[in-house]
Amino acid sequence: MATDGETISRPVASDVWDPETDDRLVCLDVHDETHDVKSFTLASPQGKRIAFKAGQYFLFEPGIDDEENGRCYSISSSPLRQNAVTVTVKRVAGGKVSNWMHDNLKPGMDLRASGPMGKFIRLEAAKYLMLSGGSGITPVMAMVREMADRAEPVDVVFLHAGRTPLDLLFREELAVLARRVKGLRLVFLPEVLTGDPAWSGLSGRISRELLSLMVPDIAARHVLCCGPAPFMAAARTICAELGVGADRYLEESFDASVVDTPAIVAEVPAAAVSYKVQFLKQAKVLDVDAGQTVLSCAKKMGVRIPSSCANGICGTCKSKLVSGLVDMKHEGGIRQREIDAGFFLPCCSRPLTDLVIDR
Ligand code: FES
Repeated sequence: MATDGETISRPVASDVWDPETDDRLVCLDVHDETHDVKSFTLASPQGKRIAFKAGQYFLFEPGIDDEENGRCYSISSSPLRQNAVTVTVKRVAGGKVSNWMHDNLKPGMDLRASGPMGKFIRLEAAKYLMLSGGSGITPVMAMVREMADRAEPVDVVFLHAGRTPLDLLFREELAVLARRVKGLRLVFLPEVLTGDPAWSGLSGRISRELLSLMVPDIAARHVLCCGPAPFMAAARTICAELGVGADRYLEESFDASVVDTPAIVAEVPAAAVSYKVQFLKQAKVLDVDAGQTVLSCAKKMGVRIPSSCANGICGTCKSKLVSGLVDMKHEGGIRQREIDAGFFLPCCSRPLTDLVIDR
């Protein structure tokens, strides 16, 4: 029995979520943000405290149709509120997990979740520029909510772009925060004015002219960018042109289109080496070059492997390697105990021998 206040309030090890062993979250609340975006607040079924950093994400695997479908969603809530995490999810056409969450996930239900993961974390800096497109706002929203919770002195320009004014996420809350958090400057940028023709602010796409006018000291800021691939590509180019160094530019995306970027060519012997890669469940055998990732080759040949980041970060593509050896260069998307149990990440692994994969 507890005998004093200190004993009651101090968490013991079992009160804290352990990313190595804890793997289920229970839904506490579902909230409509816009016509096609909902926020889901989830907690440990045992009431454990979940420590995370603003910018990190969870991988959710609802086990739809008994299939291994996984998708990563950034946490949008403040890391100072550790009783639960909130993820904000846009319904995507054909998106199996996002549609399942929108249609089925209700308070009281639980699902498989791994995390927190990810390295989209802000460094200490005097000034920031946060650029978000669409539901890419979620990790930067967590950062702004953290700054507000800490009453941190900030100098932040926060530009959020969306398709129309009705698609701009957290609009009212951000307006309140911008009144309260001194040094937070907010810019909303709808592309078109559908649904709100009386919109009096700026509209259009992110451009060099816009950023150089609105953020004249951009070269002195740390930039954090998250959004769809075309938005991020434009933002990256413009920021580089306006003098933002690569060491002060950080971006995050779970856009699967990056899978199609050419494989980084490893040192391949003069005579091209390729290996036979067998996918047991799909009864397919491919030739994969030594310099190619297993995932990029599988995708091109129609072998189905769920994937998200394509960079060894999110863990979505995790697969069982039945036999063979790979050169895996992951970024935290797999735990050591999973590697020890024979799992690997096809998106960041190149074959070193013939492989047999349980997919
Ligand atoms: S797709 Fe993210 S780790 Fe492989």
